Amino acid sequence: MSSSILSAIQKMRCLLTKEEKVKWLGIIAFALCSSLFEVATASIIVVFVQVLNQPELGEKYLAMIGLADDLSAQRSVFYLAISVGVLYLIKNIIAAVEAFYQNFSVQKMNYQFKGRLLERYAELDYAFYLTRNSSLGSAVVGGDAELMFSAGMMSVAMIMSESMVFLFLVIMVVLMNPSLFFVIFLVGLICGWGLVKGLMPKFYKWGKHLQESSLLCGQNLAQFFHGFKDIVLLGKRQIFIDVYQYYSQKRSHAQALQTATNAMPRLVIETLFVGIFVLVIAILCLVHGTPLQMIGVLGGYLYVGFRLMPGLNRMINQLNTLKSSVPSIVRVYQEYNETAAKQNYLNIPEFQFNEIIELKDIFFRYANMEKDALQNISLCIKKGESIGIVGKTGSGKSTLVDIILGLLKPYKGEALVDGKFTVRSYQWHQKIGYVSQSIYLIDDTIAANIAFGEKEINEERLNFVINAVQLRKLIDSLPKGAETIVGERGIRLSGGERQRIAIARSLYHNPDVLVFDEATSALDNQTEEKLMETINSVSKNRTVIMIAHRITTLKDCDRIIVMEKGQIKEVTQYNELERSKMV
Ligand SMILES: Nc1ncnc2c1ncn2[C@@H]1O[C@H](COP(=O)(O)OP(=O)(O)OP(=O)(O)O)[C@@H](O)[C@H]1O
Ligand SMILES: [Mg+2]
Repeated sequence: MSSSILSAIQKMRCLLTKEEKVKWLGIIAFALCSSLFEVATASIIVVFVQVLNQPELGEKYLAMIGLADDLSAQRSVFYLAISVGVLYLIKNIIAAVEAFYQNFSVQKMNYQFKGRLLERYAELDYAFYLTRNSSLGSAVVGGDAELMFSAGMMSVAMIMSESMVFLFLVIMVVLMNPSLFFVIFLVGLICGWGLVKGLMPKFYKWGKHLQESSLLCGQNLAQFFHGFKDIVLLGKRQIFIDVYQYYSQKRSHAQALQTATNAMPRLVIETLFVGIFVLVIAILCLVHGTPLQMIGVLGGYLYVGFRLMPGLNRMINQLNTLKSSVPSIVRVYQEYNETAAKQNYLNIPEFQFNEIIELKDIFFRYANMEKDALQNISLCIKKGESIGIVGKTGSGKSTLVDIILGLLKPYKGEALVDGKFTVRSYQWHQKIGYVSQSIYLIDDTIAANIAFGEKEINEERLNFVINAVQLRKLIDSLPKGAETIVGERGIRLSGGERQRIAIARSLYHNPDVLVFDEATSALDNQTEEKLMETINSVSKNRTVIMIAHRITTLKDCDRIIVMEKGQIKEVTQYNELERSKMV
C-alpha cells in the first residue's frame, strides 16, 4: 500500500470520535470474521470434493480431528455434506448481518460527521467566507465527505477482509500443491507491480480531476441558475452552457477512465488464472494419467481458483477506489482542521450591554487588498442612541458596520462593549437585529422567513412585527396569508416586500441593537416614512445604527456619521447636514 493511502487512513481515523473509531474497528472485525467463514467454507468444499472422489479419505479426515474413527465411508460423506450445508448457512447469515451492520454504521458515521463539519463551518470567521466560493463548502460536505465514507471507509474494511481470504486461500492452495506457490507468487508479483506502479497513481490523478471538475461543475451550475435573468437578457445562454459542458466533459472523462480501468484487473487476472488452470491440467494429466482421477484435486483447485480470482479482483478494485478517494479524504481533513483554526468568536456568558459601544482607533483591510478599507476609526455609541451613517459608495459604511457586528476583525484597534466585552462574541450577536444590504430569504413561508429557523413561531410577536413593517395589507391580500411561500431568495416578492420581511425578521427577536444597512432603499418615500415612524416608536430604548443613502431616512437619528475613503469625515446632526447641503 502506498504511503498516501496509509496517511489517508490515518486522516480518516483522526476525523472520527472515539466511539466511531471503535465502531470502525467493529466493522473491520466483522469483515475479518466473515472472511474466516469464507475460508472455512472454501476449505471444507475442497475436502468434500476430494472425499466424494475417494470416500475412504472422509474417515481419515474425520479421524484427524478426533471424530468417530469407526464411521463408515458413506456416513462420513453424509456428515461432511451436512457440515458443508451448515457452514454455508452460517457464513451467509454472517454475511447478511455484516452487510446491514456495515452499511448502517458507515452511513450513521457519514451523517454524524457531516453534522460536525457543518458545526465547524457555522463557527467560522465571516472573513473566511469572503475569500472563497460557497460551492467549495457544498462540494466538501456533499461530495468529498460522502466519498470518504461510502468509498474510503468501506474500501478499507473490504480490503482487509478480501486480503485475509486471499491469504488463506493462497496458503491452502500452496499446502495442497507447493509447486503452485511459484505460479501464485508470480501472478501476485505481476498484479502488485501493475497496481502500485501503473494503476494507483492514475486513480489518484483521476480522483483529483473528478474532484476539481465536480467543484467547477457545481459552481457553474449554481451561477447558471442564480444568474438566469442576467444570462438571458445578456444573451449569454450558450456561453454558460458551453462552460458547464467543458467541465462536465472533463468530469465524465475522468469518471469513464476510472470505471473502465477498474474492469481491467479482472480481465488480466482471468487470463492469468485460466492460463494457470490449463497449465495445471496439463501437468496433472501427465502426473495422474487419466483425467477422471484428477476430478477431486481439480474440483478443489477450481473452487479455490474461482474464489481467489474475483477476490483478487475485488481487492485491486477496492484499492483503486480508495486511492481515487484520497484527494477527497485530504480535502475533508484540511477543511475540518482549518475551520478549527479559524474559529474566532468567544463565548462570554457574563456579557452585558448597559452603557456603550466603543471603537478604538480601528484599522481594517480585506484579505489580499493593498489599501485599508477603514482607517483610524474611533467612535462611541451610547446605549439607546440612534446613529446614522452616510457616505459615498465604497466609503466603508458596510465595513464599519461589520466591525461593530463583530463579523470582521480589525488588524489594529478594538471594538468593545461596556469597555470590556469584545464584539466578537456569540452573546453580542444575540443582542443584534440586522438587515443586510443584500437580503437573504429562504424558500419557505413569509412567517418562517420572519421567525427564521424558529420551530415554534410566536403568533403574537409575528403579528406585531408584520404590522410594524407595514406588511399587513399584503398578507391580508394573499390567499395563504403569512403561510405564502416566498420562492428561492424571495423571488416571488417585490424588492420592497423582501426588505420589509427582512426588517420584520430583525425585529422579531426583540433585539437590544438594531443595525440597518440600506434596509429601506427599495421603499417609496411614503412607506419608508411610515415604517421609520413605527421603528422609532418601537426603538425607544434600543440602540439603532442605520446606513442610508437617502439622508431623510436618518432625520430622527441623534447623530450622523459621514464616511469618506474609509475614514470618519465628520460627526454631525441631521439639521446641520441639511443646512450644509443647502449652502
Ligand atoms: N470582501 C471584500 N474584499 C475586498 N474588498 C472589499 C470587500 N468588501 C468591500 N470591499 C472594498 O472595501 C471598500 C468599502 O466597502 P463597503 O462595502 O464598506 O462600502 P460602502 O460604503 O458600504 O459602499 P455602498 O454604499 O456601495 O454599500 C470598497 O472599496 C470595497 O471595494
Ligand atoms: Mg454598503
